[in-house]
Amino acid sequence: MTSAHFEPSGALRGDYTPPADKSISHRAALFGAMCDEPVPVRNYLDSADTRSTLAALLKLGAGVEEADNDVVIRGVGLRAPLEATGGLLDVGNAGTLMRLLPGWLAGQPGGVWTLDGDESIRRRPVDRVAEPLSAMGAELEAREGRFPPLVVRGAQLSGIEYELPVASAQVKSCVLIAGMLADGSTTVSEGAQSRDHTERLLRRARVPFERDGLRLTVSQVDELELDEVVVPGDPSSAAFVIAAATLVPGSRVVVTGVDLNWTRTGFLRIAARMGAVILGDLEEPGTEADAEPVGELDVASAPLEGTVVEPAEVPTAIDELILVALLGAFAEGETRVSGARELRVKESDRIAGVVEGLRGLGAEIESTDDGFVVRGDGAPLRGGVIDARGDHRMAMLGAVAGLASSGGVKVVGMDAAAVSYPGFERDVHALVD
Ligand code: S3P
Repeated sequence: MTSAHFEPSGALRGDYTPPADKSISHRAALFGAMCDEPVPVRNYLDSADTRSTLAALLKLGAGVEEADNDVVIRGVGLRAPLEATGGLLDVGNAGTLMRLLPGWLAGQPGGVWTLDGDESIRRRPVDRVAEPLSAMGAELEAREGRFPPLVVRGAQLSGIEYELPVASAQVKSCVLIAGMLADGSTTVSEGAQSRDHTERLLRRARVPFERDGLRLTVSQVDELELDEVVVPGDPSSAAFVIAAATLVPGSRVVVTGVDLNWTRTGFLRIAARMGAVILGDLEEPGTEADAEPVGELDVASAPLEGTVVEPAEVPTAIDELILVALLGAFAEGETRVSGARELRVKESDRIAGVVEGLRGLGAEIESTDDGFVVRGDGAPLRGGVIDARGDHRMAMLGAVAGLASSGGVKVVGMDAAAVSYPGFERDVHALVD
């Protein structure tokens, strides 16, 4: 574990391109592995999480060729005599892999696999995927009925109608993937819109698929046909730089090549409501497109005021809510987030982490059951020490807090950032030098 110091910085200035999107990289590789023809994935994210996906697919018999920022996935087909039956698949820290992969494996009659990962993944629930996949006919066994390791015994699946108990793109995606292998059709509905990258890819892979608001139906299919996938920049990674440029006076950063899919840009709308200056061609909320919209954002520092984040907004900003807390600590007035209980089962308990972490840096912040309340007076945080708790996004939160603080921040466990963003420190320093 490494520590890093982030001293109060001068303004962030210049052009910035975030790393490739993690969610889309995982999905592109997985869908590529389910195809019969090779699928080039351009700008595949090079990070610990997305390497776990490539390693798992290799173990399942797919081919992976890497060249610069691209990978070519040589798939084994949707219904494959998957190799490594009986084997252990190590997902590392990757929750998305842990939740999406069982959707594919569950539909392979006769196959048996065990999915396991690091200490953090072992604390994260998998009953949320075991339940719908069991209802479809597969057999799944989780430790204490709830946690990894997860054993998946594949079967010929039957389509179901499933209402998601929590808005989760990971669970939704798992059921949709299983639905491609299941007899008949499979319908998933969610209570609030979560990220829709899987839906967009299904259409592009020519899978029979229908969207009716928050109700999605996929039908059984023989094969997937996917042309190349070009992965746009990750708005969740970019959000750390956007927050830093908003908070550090005099900053002006142009973010290029970033995914502006409206199901990922909730944070930008919340920040703008707080007074942040973020100009760009965001995709209109409610858009049902098949391609990922990519664009530019022009961000300048601005004074902020508190806001209320409603539960319906939570899924489109889920990974950025810790940054809403940080903006709230620098803003004038109260910022309140509710309906975000899911934060308790992310890579760490992010409600506990952000509340204890920012309090240690001087913030007035309290947790609630399903969120937090933070009060600021428009002055910068004092600074101090924050523990990343092994969570990549908590590490980067601490770094941004340090740049904007009056006294600097030491982040304990900064190396966790490599899970999604290995070049984070280099990119930030390039903007402040
Ligand atoms: C993800 C979905 C989100 C998010 C995670 C990535 C995905 O989780 O927090 O970092 O790629 O589908 P849930 O939708 O399960 O909350």
